[in-house]
Amino acid sequence: MTEAHRAMDSGSRPGEQGWDPDRYARQARFVADLGMPVVELLAPRKGEKILDLGCGDGALTLKLRDMGCDVTGVDASAPQIEAARALGLDARVMDGQHLDLPADAFDAVFSNAALHWMDEDPDAVIRGVWQALKPGGRFVAEMGGGDNVGRIRRAVEAAFRRRSLDPDRYNPWYFPEPDEYRVRLENAGFDVRDIRLIDRMTRLPGELGGWLDTFAESWLAALEPAEAEAVKAEVAREVAPALRDADGVWTADYVRLRFAADKPL
Ligand code: BEZ
Repeated sequence: MTEAHRAMDSGSRPGEQGWDPDRYARQARFVADLGMPVVELLAPRKGEKILDLGCGDGALTLKLRDMGCDVTGVDASAPQIEAARALGLDARVMDGQHLDLPADAFDAVFSNAALHWMDEDPDAVIRGVWQALKPGGRFVAEMGGGDNVGRIRRAVEAAFRRRSLDPDRYNPWYFPEPDEYRVRLENAGFDVRDIRLIDRMTRLPGELGGWLDTFAESWLAALEPAEAEAVKAEVAREVAPALRDADGVWTADYVRLRFAADKPL
């Protein structure tokens, strides 16, 4: 039994997302580039105090600051926070499931492509956001939802099962349906203004293997490196007919859950 498989048996996670900022910039710059509709839904006003929850390397945090907001970024990844600080941003290492912020401090909490990583306790995330918001404050976010990257996910799951491994145990992603997430928001006290799924086929900047290295790192870490390479090749073979075009360009079957919710006055 390998270390990784021992970790699986003990129920702990064998690997974490490394979020290497250089690789992220190469493989995932599109995440922030495609985040502008969420900024528009936020409709930030000059001088507003905004929390960017899961700010990553700070690309959108910087946009919010350039729009005149007083913005603080938090992220669980120390290397990403270092990259955000290098942009001159106020950014702190903090797990979104254990937010430790002053109460009633922010006009808005914004989050792009981060909440689906906080899969252990989504309600704790929402409670932390509620606590940090001023009465009348808004929570505006986008995350993976519903059948996000469904073809890719199912191909990874099948490759795990072929190896007699339970894929669900290490799937690092939380992609809720709108009804489920609405209930979580309402249970915390939010008024949900809008919540919907958005199909967004997303062109990848390189090979599917590079995308898997970046976004499924902690999932593939359940395997020995050579097995992880084999799984990546199997997944690519399986989904290529649907997700790779004649020129070799890859597209991922993204589905986003976008919402705006208000903390009542
Ligand atoms: C993302 O962070 O945007 C993401 C993560 C996993 C699957 C798809 C997208």
